Amino acid sequence: MVLNGSPRPKGNTSTLVKHFKEGAEESGNEVTVFNLDSMNISGCKGCFGGNIKDPNSPCVQKDDMDKIYPVYKDADIVVLASPLYYWNLSGQLRTAFDRLFAVEETVPNWRSHEKGAILLMAAEGDAFDIAVQYYKTLLEHLNWKNLGIILAGGVNNIGDIEGSNKLNEVKELGASLK
Ligand SMILES: Cc1cc2nc3c(=O)[nH]c(=O)nc-3n(C[C@H](O)[C@H](O)[C@H](O)COP(=O)(O)O)c2cc1C
Repeated sequence: MVLNGSPRPKGNTSTLVKHFKEGAEESGNEVTVFNLDSMNISGCKGCFGGNIKDPNSPCVQKDDMDKIYPVYKDADIVVLASPLYYWNLSGQLRTAFDRLFAVEETVPNWRSHEKGAILLMAAEGDAFDIAVQYYKTLLEHLNWKNLGIILAGGVNNIGDIEGSNKLNEVKELGASLK
C-alpha cells in the first residue's frame, strides 16, 4: 500500500511512486496507491474511540479513510511517499497516518500489526534528516521493518526528477520485493 502525500499528480513524488509501482508489479506484487490530497480525510479528533467492532472502519469519523483501512489491514508493506514540506512529511500524509491510530488502539501496547515500510521523498534541497529521523522513530514505535529509503534531493518543479537515477533505484527497490 502506498500513501502518496504529494498534491501534485505529475510531481516528483508521484513519479517516484509510479516507478516504484512498476517495479513492484513486475515482480508480482499487488500495489494500491492512495493519492491522499484528492481524498476526503479529516484530522484525528484525539477521542481514543477506535474499536474493532468493524475492522474495516475502526475510527469514529466516517470519511475516505474507510477506503484505506481495509487495504492497510492486509498490506504487508506500507510506503510513505511525500515531498519534503518544512523539513517533514507533508500534512496530507501526516493527517492520514494519525488516523491509522484508530487501528493501533485495537492492538496491545498501541503497536501495529508487523509490517515492512519504505520511505520515498522529493525535495528542492537535501535536508531530509528530520524527516528520516521521524520515519525511523515511527517504525521503532510500530515495530515495523525498514525496507528502503529513497531521497530525491535537488528537484523542485514538476518534471525535475525525469532522468534521475533515483527512478532506477526506486524501480529496483520495488522489483526486489517478493
Ligand atoms: C509548503 C512547502 C514546503 C516546502 N518545504 C521544503 C523544505 O523544507 N525543504 C526543501 O528542500 N524543499 C521544500 N519544498 C519544496 C518541495 O519539497 C519540492 O518542490 C518537491 O519537489 C515537491 O515534490 P512534489 O513534486 O512531489 O510535489 C517545499 C514546498 C512546499 C510547497
